[in-house]
Amino acid sequence: MKLAVIGTGVMGRGWITQCAMTGHEVYCHDSNPETLAGTVAFCEGLAGKVAKKFKIDDPDFWKKTVDNIKIYKEKNDFMEKAKGCEVFLEVIFEDLDLKCSVLGEILPQLPDNVIFWSNTSSLNIDIMGEAGGRPELSIVTHGMNPVPLMPGVEVVPGAKTTAETVEFTRNALLEMKKAPFLAPNIPGFWVNRLLVPQMLDAVRLLEQGKITVDDGDVGLNTSLGHPQGTFKLHDFVTAPTMLRVALEMYQASNDPRMYPPLTLMRMVKNGEFGASSGKGFYDWADPRNPRARDLSNYVVRSADDMTERVN
Ligand SMILES: NC(=O)c1ccc[n+]([C@@H]2O[C@H](COP(=O)([O-])OP(=O)(O)OC[C@H]3O[C@@H](n4cnc5c(N)ncnc54)[C@H](O)[C@@H]3O)[C@@H](O)[C@H]2O)c1
Repeated sequence: MKLAVIGTGVMGRGWITQCAMTGHEVYCHDSNPETLAGTVAFCEGLAGKVAKKFKIDDPDFWKKTVDNIKIYKEKNDFMEKAKGCEVFLEVIFEDLDLKCSVLGEILPQLPDNVIFWSNTSSLNIDIMGEAGGRPELSIVTHGMNPVPLMPGVEVVPGAKTTAETVEFTRNALLEMKKAPFLAPNIPGFWVNRLLVPQMLDAVRLLEQGKITVDDGDVGLNTSLGHPQGTFKLHDFVTAPTMLRVALEMYQASNDPRMYPPLTLMRMVKNGEFGASSGKGFYDWADPRNPRARDLSNYVVRSADDMTERVN
């Protein structure tokens, strides 16, 4: 199978690695040239982690993986390759207007039989399918981070998605060694509908001074068996993505629990994105040994804290 992937950030790179390591050719583009340039090396490293974790003892595994990845700086060159693909996968920012405008431009240029997958965490596939002009062939394939290490994929058909598109998608994902499951087309689908309000509640309790990063994560890890705890998970998802997801889910649901807490906005403003930027709820100076940060300066005690201290 051949796939075209637009967006080579955190999740795009995971999907690219997954496609390539299971023998599929993958053509990639990102509007940020620096992100695009670092993509192959990152995927190579990720393939190495997969080989180690799953004890793959093929010495050429990473090379075979990398050989299947082709990056295109020029959008026109990427579009030419995308025209020969079975699947077009979008993995760009979680912003409905942006996704719709990109899809409205790209999908009408592709042959009528190309299936459209979106890796959105929460957005409505009906709206994206209509924006791209092929709702029958549009479906969410929401992978988890990091894609090659987390098998689950939420498959979310829209109102007009055909049974053939669902069947094709399930089979293609199984062939890519993923574990697809059907989820409803509601804001956040199944996984984030449950997870996001919980993660945002955790940040709200932190900014109320009721819990610390360390105690919070140790508690969830030792009591519920969460491998990372909620704050470390925030740092992997990254603060900008959490902010976008929360806001989109809030706008789609009007549920106040989805409204992003002040701390999340401040962290985005301060560049404290999480593991990738070196600082989030944890200090990632040593990525193997992240240290929970003292975030007492983010505790909101007064109206002044809410106004003056937002910087
Ligand atoms: N981060 C997670 O843990 C996670 C998990 C599941 C799903 N998702 C979803 O995956 C999608 C991507 O999230 P991410 O975490 O990889 O974000 P990211 O910020 O790491 O990457 C997004 C990439 O999209 C690129 N981009 C933006 N606009 C573009 C355009 N017009 N054309 C080409 N490239 C463009 C950006 O340059 C960036 O590299 C979102 O829909 C998000 O909700 C994220």
